[in-house]
Amino acid sequence: MTADQLTTTQPPSAIPPATSDLLSDVIAGLSSDPRTLPCKYFYDEQGAALFQKICELPEYYITRTEIDILSRYHAEIASQIGPNVELIGLGTGAGTKTRILIEALDKPAVYIPVDISEKQLRKSTAVFQKIFPNLEILPVCADYLQPVVLPSPRREAARNVVYFPGSTIGNFEPNEALEFLRRIANVSGRGGGLLIGADLQKDQNVIEAAYNDSAGVTAEFNLNLLAHINRKTGANFDLNQWQHRAIYNSEAGRIEMYLISQADQTVRIQDREFHFRAGERILTEHSYKHTPEGFISLAGKAGFDFVKLWTDDARLFGVFYFVTAM
Ligand code: AVI
Repeated sequence: MTADQLTTTQPPSAIPPATSDLLSDVIAGLSSDPRTLPCKYFYDEQGAALFQKICELPEYYITRTEIDILSRYHAEIASQIGPNVELIGLGTGAGTKTRILIEALDKPAVYIPVDISEKQLRKSTAVFQKIFPNLEILPVCADYLQPVVLPSPRREAARNVVYFPGSTIGNFEPNEALEFLRRIANVSGRGGGLLIGADLQKDQNVIEAAYNDSAGVTAEFNLNLLAHINRKTGANFDLNQWQHRAIYNSEAGRIEMYLISQADQTVRIQDREFHFRAGERILTEHSYKHTPEGFISLAGKAGFDFVKLWTDDARLFGVFYFVTAM
């Protein structure tokens, strides 16, 4: 994603990412040491539905807490953002949080949701168009980790504000997070802003419970990654031979999700074969937990000045507002 590509005038795109990318990413991940699979492939139709269920789990405090913060501080947040903005939503999903934000904003010029799931995007755009009939909405179906061409709105906005909720930034490696925030700073441009949700460091038991829920939904979500790979590539992962486990790595400050092989086994993916020993793990996701100072410093390196942090009473989660440094 480059600044040029992001500011070119183009019609909205509706092209989901190619299967060939998935295949080469999967082969690269399984050929690496330690073995990994990219977490962005969690989100096929089934995965998106399972993630929706995760967000409603009692142990998964993240979504609930972020919504509570927005509900409590929406007026303050809107006044920091200001009137007549071009709001660019990255991975905003069903749009519960964005709806709270847009309702509070003073005459936003346009809303540009960017999402990898075409179905989700169509659904949320239709809902938003009904709720906000006078707001121009220009959906873009794309993997926002790849070059994305943003459409041009009818009305000129006072500034661009990128909204990146859900603490998805925690799923990036620190160097990737920095690079990604730098690109966002280019999209926000001069005088622009970034409203971003980030999960905060806390008691490790609270974090581990959130990713090892008692209903087993996160396990199903993790295993669906293998099912997704099977569906897309014809691979023969046997889901009964894999077990989910999430472990907090306190040194790195992140929760790590694994799929653990329950037996010595061989998996075929097209013309390749991968051998796994019993107990061998595939790392499928990292979710970094930040300190406020650490996150402000990271964003600072990417060209953002810190404006404000809103948090809940237990300081579980943070909603940060930054502006691009002049
Ligand atoms: C999308 N992302 C912020 C979630 C997280 O908490 O890291 C994905 C997730 N993985 C397991 N549960 C939720």
